[in-house]
Amino acid sequence: MTKICYLIGYPIEHSLSPVMHNTAFKELGIDFSYRAINVESHHLRSFIEETLRRPMVRGANVTIPHKVDVIKFLDEVDPLAKEIGAVNTIVNDEGVLRGFNTDGFGAFRALIEAYGSLKEMKVVLLGAGGATRAISYYLLKEVQSMVILNRTERKALELAKDLRKSLRGFKVEIYGSLLTKARLREELFDADVVINTTPVGMYPNVENTLICKNFLNKKMMVFDVIYNPFETRLILEAKDVGAKTLNGVNMFVYQGSEAFRLWTSRDAPIDIMTQVVIKALEEKG
Ligand code: ATR
Repeated sequence: MTKICYLIGYPIEHSLSPVMHNTAFKELGIDFSYRAINVESHHLRSFIEETLRRPMVRGANVTIPHKVDVIKFLDEVDPLAKEIGAVNTIVNDEGVLRGFNTDGFGAFRALIEAYGSLKEMKVVLLGAGGATRAISYYLLKEVQSMVILNRTERKALELAKDLRKSLRGFKVEIYGSLLTKARLREELFDADVVINTTPVGMYPNVENTLICKNFLNKKMMVFDVIYNPFETRLILEAKDVGAKTLNGVNMFVYQGSEAFRLWTSRDAPIDIMTQVVIKALEEKG
């Protein structure tokens, strides 16, 4: 019997997850099928109870706007996903629904691969939404300091407070603050890594960036979680000043590869997944 994995979100038409996972299943000869399905918020509970628990369903990816709300419908939630407060992957183990978060894993793996160790580093995060939360919990065990700058100050302060509660002996300085030009200039002056987790610069608003070019320098690593376009204005300007850069493609593939492993207990064919994602993005133009 073919096992099904769903992607549930609203809207999900433009997601690259179906082509990425279906190519990976085919590559390894696994009898799985990945299907994206629009589920509006008021149907989330019924979809989970009536569809996700069926024996032929192995699990799901969860995307905007359900990553937080879905938690209350699950039977078990991985401790880290619980701390992050968001689930992007569900596994159906004989009717028992378990929730995980693979976004932070994806970002962390991509960063480490691109930059090596992050020990002793100062990281500046722009944004305080789901993506920042997921990434920041993974960074706790590595970095020396973390500054969270957000348009809505309250969310930056809340995340900083939550992270401090989860330190468990790690010595990391964590601050949250309102995202202003002056604060950015000050914090980026001695930052090792800056991560944009906001949608600013994403297609079609490709002219936008939160960081003035003259705040960037060649000693920095600039990570933009956006992958459409491949090179946001932020990434192009960072390259211009000689900084190391990383776009969101690898993070996307690695969050998917970890979900793949949770569903199939097999290592995902990462190279093929990366190729198919890049090809699909190029075709989109
Ligand atoms: P995700 O799950 O992708 O992180 P999210 O939870 O909606 O999505 O978070 C989006 C983040 O981008 C938020 O931190 C948001 O700031 P607010 O908390 O003030 O809403 C930030 N963001 C979105 N649009 C922005 C903009 N135009 N300028 C600055 N920050 C923006």
